[in-house]
Amino acid sequence: KLDMSYQPSALETIFRSDDEIKITENDIESRPLNIPPLLEPISQTDGQIEYEIRAQNGETEIVPGRKTPSRGYNGELLGPTIKLKKDQQVKLHTGNDMDEVTTYHWHGLIVDEASDGGPHMTIEPDETKTIDFNVDNEAATLWYHPHPHGSTSKQVYEGLAGMVIIEDENTKRLEKHLPHEYGVDDIPVVVQDRFLVDGYKLNYDEVRSIDGTGGDTLLLNGTANATFDAKGRYLRMRLLNGSNVTNFEFSLENNATFYQIGTDGGLLNYPIELKHLFLSAGERAEIIVDLEAFKEEEVKLFVNGITGLTIRRGENKNNADFNPIMSLRTEMLPVIQPHEVAGYPTKLMLMAGTDYRVSINGKKYDPDRIDTTQPLGEYQVWEIVNAKDEMENLIHPYHVHGVQFRILDRDGKIPPRNEQGWKDTVLVNPGETVHVLLKFTKPGKFMYHCHILEHEEHGMMGHVEIS
Ligand code: C2O
Ligand code: CU
Ligand code: CU
Repeated sequence: KLDMSYQPSALETIFRSDDEIKITENDIESRPLNIPPLLEPISQTDGQIEYEIRAQNGETEIVPGRKTPSRGYNGELLGPTIKLKKDQQVKLHTGNDMDEVTTYHWHGLIVDEASDGGPHMTIEPDETKTIDFNVDNEAATLWYHPHPHGSTSKQVYEGLAGMVIIEDENTKRLEKHLPHEYGVDDIPVVVQDRFLVDGYKLNYDEVRSIDGTGGDTLLLNGTANATFDAKGRYLRMRLLNGSNVTNFEFSLENNATFYQIGTDGGLLNYPIELKHLFLSAGERAEIIVDLEAFKEEEVKLFVNGITGLTIRRGENKNNADFNPIMSLRTEMLPVIQPHEVAGYPTKLMLMAGTDYRVSINGKKYDPDRIDTTQPLGEYQVWEIVNAKDEMENLIHPYHVHGVQFRILDRDGKIPPRNEQGWKDTVLVNPGETVHVLLKFTKPGKFMYHCHILEHEEHGMMGHVEIS
């Protein structure tokens, strides 16, 4: 029974984190925030856009003067940002120039099994696979990363991840109101923590941890101690928690407010005023910072209490006609009332255990087993439980492929307003039960799993077959 009287204030933080914060300030020389380039199409016609992307080994100067072996897409570390338009027909040639198997998973993209790039869709060294899909998602910040079973966590840790930006008719409609110049006032921010072995190396095998590999150094788009020269009054940041395990809490200098405008899979109804924002591994949020609200020349974005980004203010010229109470969507997302979903089939997803003993519904991942089915185009309620016992006290970020869902409640209470948008990954606190409503629109076999990458690899993952 849902308690509808509970109206969390937008400023309320409902999350509890028992994680010890391991990231520390470091003395790496501060440098400009790396902005991943936009991927250039190799061809473009009215009907179709075509891209090529290749995973490769590289070398990156994370620490000035030292060359860190790393991995990247079409580059040394991370990958280019891919901008797609709703309803566009896309052809992607995905290649592998590494010496090990990989896959290309499009986290949050609503595509069928063949394009989803789960653990079954492997690409051998020197192989290229072409996928075709139509963009069904609305305007959102999605991402891509490898998903080969057994080495997802290593490949992501060593640098393979990139952002996908979808644009649609709302993007057009909001052009005057939201900053949208890529890399200038609309910036991707991939947040990760890494251990630098011997002061500069990303040696995953030496630092791997069974409950998820964190790090003591914070990297934003691969840059430690990043600075960014802002232009104009408003700065839009597309935050992605690209860590293997670490939960990130974002806040601004002086505990200033900012506005969240989007969740994993799309824009919120209205900007939500926040002082703190919490993202677990795999989650995204789009935020707007009003730089005019500060007297200082430099404004700090804190991540888990330490400086993640130093924003240098430029001229205060209005670059957007942003209004904190404007509607962001033409089609508003309603809060779903309990009676509306009362008759819907419900599935249990019980996440339990830590380290190598993790499981979902008592089972470990089996690549050949279908764990559950759901009819194409039909709604179901998934009851996602984070079982807690004396041993177990971890947040699990629960993610489903090939779909965007809505959170119905957290322990019977409607979610805070900044979680009432489209989601593909939901943070589940220890002992908590979260109900989500989802409908798949593409057939095939899709993964669901904990987005602590090491939990996923230890078997906290299953398949749902849609037909
Ligand atoms: Cu972000 Cu199964 O993935
Ligand atoms: Cu995914
Ligand atoms: Cu987990």
